[in-house]
Amino acid sequence: MILIKIGGSVFSDKRGEPENFDTETVMRIAGEIAEFYPNEEFIVVHGGGSFGHYHASEHAIREGLSGEWESDRRKKIGFSLTHQSMLRANASFIEVFLSQNLPAFSVSTSSIFLTERGEIVYADIEVIEKLLELDFIPILFGDVSVDVAQGIDILSGDQIMAYLTKMLKPKKVIFLMDVDGIYDGKPGEGSLIQELAREEVPALLERLHCTASGTDVTGGICNKLRKAHEMAYYSEVWFVNGKVPGRLSGAIRGDGFGTRLR
Ligand code: IPE
Repeated sequence: MILIKIGGSVFSDKRGEPENFDTETVMRIAGEIAEFYPNEEFIVVHGGGSFGHYHASEHAIREGLSGEWESDRRKKIGFSLTHQSMLRANASFIEVFLSQNLPAFSVSTSSIFLTERGEIVYADIEVIEKLLELDFIPILFGDVSVDVAQGIDILSGDQIMAYLTKMLKPKKVIFLMDVDGIYDGKPGEGSLIQELAREEVPALLERLHCTASGTDVTGGICNKLRKAHEMAYYSEVWFVNGKVPGRLSGAIRGDGFGTRLR
């Protein structure tokens, strides 16, 4: 099984109009998956991009509920609006995959996971396993979550990736991003790392100034790299540019351009 995360910046422009969806790019990505299906099993997880994030920050979902009735009522409405926005993104993915003759099936993240301050503490993944057995392509997404500590929170696509990797041990995990892979420095400034050994990750985190508190100066890469470090224990992890045709299929075949971590 191959687990693929389609980052929000790959399928939409976070600085553009709310809920913009790059159908052409997703169509091409689905086409690259179709080259290998059904010989390979796939699970896809997509991020928020120009969906979800707006309502999530507008309603400060990550702060959880406060216990104050009126403000919590507004937050709950924001929680539901965030989820509805993600459902619209997910519906667009499903439509594109179906149009490529791929039996994709939507799995609503917030219905199968519970978090505790953003970390997964409960999961019901039997449906996902059964869908795989039946040769479906489950498509999950970064979503809101019911949280046992603070009522509500956000569950990012990267957290889902880490959890599914640990539980299902895919032979390969592929992150599609809008840059060519992991850089030794800022993207565009440092040089692209094509091969990375698991043991080298802690030193790289230090060179990138990724502090324990999670401060991120290199565009979201610190958290991704930390998660990838955990995932590489179970699977080979690839970071490739999802905007460039052929990079995903290269990673699936194993001879692609990007960063390979193992
Ligand atoms: C975000 O998911 C989900 C919501 C804001 C509801 P991700 O954190 O995985 O999204 P991207 O890939 O960074 O856009």
